[in-house]
Amino acid sequence: MADTVKINFAKLPSSLDGLIVLLAAESPGGGSAVLAPSVEALLEPAGDLFARAAAADRFEGKSGSSLELLAPTGTSATRVIVIGIGKAADLKAQDWLKLGGTIMGKLPSSAKEIGIVLDVEGADLNAEAAAEIALGLRLRAYSFDRYKTKKKPDEATAKPKVTLYIEEDSAAKRAWKKREGMGEGVILARDLVNEPANVLTPTEFAKRAGELSKLGVDVEVLGEKDLKKLGMGALLGVGQGSEQETRVVVMRWNGGKSGIAPVAFVGKGVVFDTGGISIKQAAGMEDMKGDMAGAACVVGLMHALASRKAKVNAIGLIGLVENMPDGNAQRPGDIVTSMSGQTIEIINTDAEGRLVLADVLWYAKERFKPQFMVDLATLTGAILVALGTENAGLFSNDDTLAARIYEAGLETGEKVWRLPLSSEYDKLVDSKFADMKNTGGRFGGSITAAQFIQRFVGDVPWAHLDIAGTAISSPPSEINRSWAAGWGVRLLDQMVANHYEV
Ligand code: BES
Ligand code: MN
Ligand code: ZN
Repeated sequence: MADTVKINFAKLPSSLDGLIVLLAAESPGGGSAVLAPSVEALLEPAGDLFARAAAADRFEGKSGSSLELLAPTGTSATRVIVIGIGKAADLKAQDWLKLGGTIMGKLPSSAKEIGIVLDVEGADLNAEAAAEIALGLRLRAYSFDRYKTKKKPDEATAKPKVTLYIEEDSAAKRAWKKREGMGEGVILARDLVNEPANVLTPTEFAKRAGELSKLGVDVEVLGEKDLKKLGMGALLGVGQGSEQETRVVVMRWNGGKSGIAPVAFVGKGVVFDTGGISIKQAAGMEDMKGDMAGAACVVGLMHALASRKAKVNAIGLIGLVENMPDGNAQRPGDIVTSMSGQTIEIINTDAEGRLVLADVLWYAKERFKPQFMVDLATLTGAILVALGTENAGLFSNDDTLAARIYEAGLETGEKVWRLPLSSEYDKLVDSKFADMKNTGGRFGGSITAAQFIQRFVGDVPWAHLDIAGTAISSPPSEINRSWAAGWGVRLLDQMVANHYEV
């Protein structure tokens, strides 16, 4: 399947032509699939072919099922793929997105031009739904094959063109215009996460973030000198053993009224996490090229907000660093001073993400006085044990902010589950030698990591998303076949759209 697809909208066609996709609903009472009258009319020249094929294949329009009609006589269609959408009355907004993905998955990889008739019986497949389907097509079509030199012949050619047929085609086009940039943001995040660490160094990452300036995002890159001056000893300690320079990138999108406090998104950008001196085992270490998925999400989100000209003042901040062992690397037992002035005893150099966030969150708070801060980080293996790959861990000092993220999660399907914070857990990161230590013992590892981070956010409403289970090594879904999910871009874009645009 090709990298991405070109999307067009047009009014419903009057005849079947080429490769065409039709939708069929499941009958509320069971039995044969239900077609919209416009779809029945399109199939009319083929006589009872659909009815007979459906009966032979027991196709009833169940969600995920499909039926293929090859070169139906009486039409100029080469292939008709009828896709079941399940019971129309059960469809939720999110299902349109998934349907787009399912459709893309049913197309032969050789397809160059595809028509999809968006008319179903019993459901409101409006312009917004059509745009969601288009987004689903785009996201599912994504694959990261930049380093495959031997592409299959089908894949070597241009992007396939998809025409979505819908009566309200102009409204659908407008709705798509609003979502297209978000799709690009998700894909940008996936690209960054999939990229190997020999290519995506902190410097290269900062350069790619710099490309957001084309969309009107103000991008500032802080180098090691700046970071030293700011006193970011926690962040700099992590990068100490690497040949690569540590960077912090500040991205500003001023789409809201001037004078309104910004919202801030902070991402962990460990471009590779060996564990440092507390080195990780070899098996699976390659996955740690994705330890910058939080930062990738922030860049993707800024892309999304800027390209749809969101009416919000938003800041994205990412801490870019490589965690390596060498003669200059930080040791267990070392004590570093964070920008906040608080001192940290390093117990385990593999608990580096919280050290990155500590300084970047403090900096965000001091410099921008944001309305809220949301950080994203592939922070703990423990979150995978607790929540698996379906929900990210949510921690927050603010019930309203937490609820808003939770709800956006239900709307987008990028779900979060809240875990507790309290003074009892907080005590577990007290240190004998410094103000705190960077690990909290064997139990509740995701919680003690969040407690550590909370010590750097002051009174600012804050939420922490532990995305170690959701952002990388993603199980295949309707809308993603790639190792990187681009998780969080849709979630936070939705949250901003719901509550923070004026
Ligand atoms: N980047 C890892 C967490 C991680 C694990 C992300 C698996 C994605 C998949 C993080 O820096 C880490 O190493 N955390 C340690 C913390 C521990 C040393 C307290 C962990 O989870 O084991
Ligand atoms: Mn680590
Ligand atoms: Zn890490």
